[in-house]
Amino acid sequence: MRSFEIEPGGRLSGRIRVPGDKSISHRVVMLGAIADGTTRARGFLGGADARSTIDVFRALGVTVEGPDDDGGIVVHGVGLHGLRAPAGPLDCGNAGTAMRLLMGLLAGQGFASTLIGDESLSRRPMRRVADPLRQMGADIETGSAGAGEPDDGRPPVRIRPATRLHAIRYAMPVASAQLKSALLLAGLYADGETVVIEPAPTRDHTERMLGGFGADVVRDGASVALRGGQSLRAASFDIPADLSSAAFFLVGASIAPGSDLVLEHVGLNPTRTGCLDILRRMGADIEVLAERDCGGEPAGDLRVRAAPLRGIEIPPELVPLAIDEFPALFVAACCAEGRTVLRGAHELRVKESDRIATMAEGLARLGVETTPCEDGIVIEGRGGDLGVFRGGRVQTHHDHRIAMALSMAALRATGAIGIDDTAIVDTSFPDFVALAHGAGMAIRVHSGE
Ligand code: S3P
Repeated sequence: MRSFEIEPGGRLSGRIRVPGDKSISHRVVMLGAIADGTTRARGFLGGADARSTIDVFRALGVTVEGPDDDGGIVVHGVGLHGLRAPAGPLDCGNAGTAMRLLMGLLAGQGFASTLIGDESLSRRPMRRVADPLRQMGADIETGSAGAGEPDDGRPPVRIRPATRLHAIRYAMPVASAQLKSALLLAGLYADGETVVIEPAPTRDHTERMLGGFGADVVRDGASVALRGGQSLRAASFDIPADLSSAAFFLVGASIAPGSDLVLEHVGLNPTRTGCLDILRRMGADIEVLAERDCGGEPAGDLRVRAAPLRGIEIPPELVPLAIDEFPALFVAACCAEGRTVLRGAHELRVKESDRIATMAEGLARLGVETTPCEDGIVIEGRGGDLGVFRGGRVQTHHDHRIAMALSMAALRATGAIGIDDTAIVDTSFPDFVALAHGAGMAIRVHSGE
């Protein structure tokens, strides 16, 4: 089992480029596969999650070259109706985005398919996607805890060919970009106009990228509409670095006195930047340098310098816009002066782990007791610029973001921190240790039995 061993203290400095955006990487492969022509992208995420999506599309008869060492990838599109029946189950690994978006895409195909995932993904809810797809006419069955047990809405997901899909108008009960995207992808194969209404804005990469592939997607307030049967035209994409991966370093450099770090070419899509708003409200010193357009997605360099942080009540509207960054933000909250309150974040309980519970457990092991509640957490920050955490060993619960968030705690710890079961970090950030080390953390990997 691989673990991280991190000496306490240090500061972060220099310039780093974190890996390509995970959400955009998945979508480039998916939309490139069903487009007409050859799609090229650079900056593609080399992590296991994005590779799972590539493997799935290869199993569906699509030729994908790469990713090469520079994140170059070429997808030879087969057109809207060119996917072929796979020979076996399609393994999405740890990737919830892959599974949920694929449910939408595969619901309208003329062949059967089965989606499976690892232990963590096999516990995650899929009914939220299966139910509206069934309303569109899809024939989908989700799994159960065992033979004879009732359907519990979790993987495996079995999809049988549907005679035809028809468009629906659907008000989503949860603010989920994965659900919205699944319905839009199914909508490509449906008769009529599919309309999805969001309870709060969520990341809009699917809509932007469909536009980049020449599809007509209409945004009107909280609703997104897409006519079925539109074909996609291959395109080229420059994928920015993932703000969700940059977030660990934004927090690390904010809490480690003397830090001054630049994160290069980071995606700054406004439906993703909730963590910047939250950190700035807490007093963080983050500057956007050289903002630019990156193939339909805004991007820029971020300069972050250490600053005294204060606790805040996190505005509920920022929650979906920062949903993946809360593990890192909790570490920042521990180092802030005063109380941080998060509510309205029940979704954190159904991520790669129950992130409210796993972070509360990890922080407690490092000496900071928090008060979790059903949909959030209250953290009494310690403030100051000295040790906030004590040394100790923590568990990742097979969740990449827990491993990286708790790593940052070492910058303000009084003793060494050991993090068990860290191989999972490769899903989104294969070179995390090298970059963290290069920026100034005394982190090394231990490969045990
Ligand atoms: C994602 C959407 C979010 C996010 C996930 C990636 C996407 O999930 O947590 O890491 O790429 O659409 P939900 O849609 O379930 O909130």
